[in-house]
Amino acid sequence: MSAAPVICVDGPSGAGKGTLSLRLAAALDWHLLDSGALYRVVGFACRQAGVSLDNSDAVAEVARALDVDFRPTDAGVTVWLSGEDVTSAIRSEEGGADASQVAALEPVRAALLLRQQELARPPGLIADGRDMGTVVFPEAPLKIFLTASAEARAERRFHQLQGMGESVSLARLLTDIQQRDARDQSRSVSPLVPAEDAIVIDSTALTADEVLQAASELAKSRKLMS
Ligand code: DC
Repeated sequence: MSAAPVICVDGPSGAGKGTLSLRLAAALDWHLLDSGALYRVVGFACRQAGVSLDNSDAVAEVARALDVDFRPTDAGVTVWLSGEDVTSAIRSEEGGADASQVAALEPVRAALLLRQQELARPPGLIADGRDMGTVVFPEAPLKIFLTASAEARAERRFHQLQGMGESVSLARLLTDIQQRDARDQSRSVSPLVPAEDAIVIDSTALTADEVLQAASELAKSRKLMS
């Protein structure tokens, strides 16, 4: 059992998990775990240390030794690796591809499991990821699986990257998302699937406000929010 209630927000890339999780954490004044950032930091730390992402044992060792810190700010959570702010460095497309590769390694997932579970502290935790409800917090009182069509997710990412001044092709983003989905869903360890007791919210035709409202209603019905 966790030491505090956990709301899991799982689902594929670009469905709006990050936005929903930030807003739920702010509304409840709970802690926030961005587990994708952990896998991104592992990939980044391996690149820095010259560790091959194919070397499962060496990558797991990097994951075990990781000196990572999440610091909340008004603009969201910043990610620090050994005292260096790596928030934007880990958010690149390459960072996502590296994260997906290290996330498929069982020893890496095992190395990060306890670290994630320890973040369930009072008053509660919003856990954003892929396997929060199935593996990390199986006893969580509310599990949301947030999804959206691949086309809608590619379009959102396209606008996000454009806003950051990066020039990208929409078609390329759609292909990348479809490939990453296939890899995340078909891997043998912690594949991306909804927990049996998860509630699915499809955000394809919803605004961020509507998604927050749907999630808040679920939290209220479980007595996690007043
Ligand atoms: O949510 P994100 O894009 O930052 O995640 C980066 C990668 O990490 C993505 O390929 C899925 C993987 N991931 C995972 O396997 N398990 C998690 N709990 C979170 C992310």
